[in-house]
Amino acid sequence: MPKVLVVGAGGREHAIVRALLRTASATPEVHAAPGNPGIAADAAVHDVAADDVPGLVALAVELAVDLVVVGPEVPLVAGLVDALREVRIPAFGPTAAAARLEGSKAFAKEIMIAAGVPTAGYETVTTVDAGMAAITGYPVVLKYDGLAAGKGVVIAEDEAAARATLVDMLEDQQFGDAAVVVEEFLAGEEVSLLAVCDGVRAIPLAPAQDYKRIFEGDQGPNTGGMGSYSPVVGVDAARALEISAAVHQPVVDELARRGTPFTGVLYAGLMVDPDAGTVKVLEYNTRFGDPETQAVLPRLTSDLFALTAAAAGGPDAELGGLEGVELAWDERWAVTIVLASRGYPASAHKGDVIKGLDRTPSSAEVTHAGTAIDERGRVVTGGGRVLNVTALGESPSQARQAAYAAAQGILFDGRQIRKDIAERAVERWQG
Ligand code: AMP
Ligand code: GLY
Repeated sequence: MPKVLVVGAGGREHAIVRALLRTASATPEVHAAPGNPGIAADAAVHDVAADDVPGLVALAVELAVDLVVVGPEVPLVAGLVDALREVRIPAFGPTAAAARLEGSKAFAKEIMIAAGVPTAGYETVTTVDAGMAAITGYPVVLKYDGLAAGKGVVIAEDEAAARATLVDMLEDQQFGDAAVVVEEFLAGEEVSLLAVCDGVRAIPLAPAQDYKRIFEGDQGPNTGGMGSYSPVVGVDAARALEISAAVHQPVVDELARRGTPFTGVLYAGLMVDPDAGTVKVLEYNTRFGDPETQAVLPRLTSDLFALTAAAAGGPDAELGGLEGVELAWDERWAVTIVLASRGYPASAHKGDVIKGLDRTPSSAEVTHAGTAIDERGRVVTGGGRVLNVTALGESPSQARQAAYAAAQGILFDGRQIRKDIAERAVERWQG
């Protein structure tokens, strides 16, 4: 029986564990580190943190796993895949050098330009005057690119707002190497298109949309994601292949050319403008999306273990293992609702008892994110995003209704659920 270790503790990793078990032709023995109470019901969990690179390598060696699948970006950027390759353990995820695509917005832009990927026009600046000179119209997008993460992205509507943001990002914050990417504002609709890459080629997964803001109608602060659905109206399989050829393959080629081949998931955050017929890349992530994965993987019918093992390459990391691979999908729609705790995203109320988990209909899949077990053995809230509920349906509206019905049956104090997940798909789908 093959052995696999999944690194991470969220809903994404729980969905990966479930898909590894569900789709395998030879069911693997699944381990997770550190996992969570939901993952512990499906896999053997080990108390090693997701950012403890030496600890994870030691665990993988001790368990003698055949494959490590890495969920979050932090261990990727910290070189977990490189360290595993040194001990000849295949790992699904990019090396630290390739993970810079997510780690640095300026590097990502440089690669996009070199690879000829369609993206918003931009300039990287380090002074307020250079920033103001780089602006060609409003609104304009200002992206912080420096050591202090979390300054994020500001869309400035006029000159006064742009200047104030640049002063804040470049002068008020005393970070030595602060830089700002000044970027053209793109109109349209956001789509997440992820591809599995083997260092040579990129195979797109089904498209998805996520909902980043806490409140209905995309209001309020950004979160880790309040829901998702897959596929996306207007992006059928043929269109996904076409887009992937324009946004994934050139990057895989460019990184191979530079001697830092990309293996793992290349996540393209896209702005699709249906009126102009254009697709442009907003950003790359170098891992599965959360919560997109919770909606995408339940639709995958191909063997995920075989897929990730082929992409990871052998112990000596020979590349190109995906030659001839084609993915198969359940045609149904999937909708994922996130249940968040009181106070999220500013804070996360812990210790609220979760009820109704045992009554979830078997047609819905519940994956755990921020849950914990209290001293009386009860499942309680333990983080901001607590649970994900995914349901499949023959139409977006069927999937949506089933997901909400199951989500409403899970109760805890302060529970937050966004009510408009997948409404867009329901409105546009003509089945
Ligand atoms: P990023 O971290 O680069 O993905 O940006 C965060 C969010 O800001 C995106 O998900 C978009 O909603 C928005 N955004 C980023 N870049 C642009 C752009 N060039 N035009 C319009 N919106 C953008
Ligand atoms: N859903 C957005 C992300 O995973 O970054």
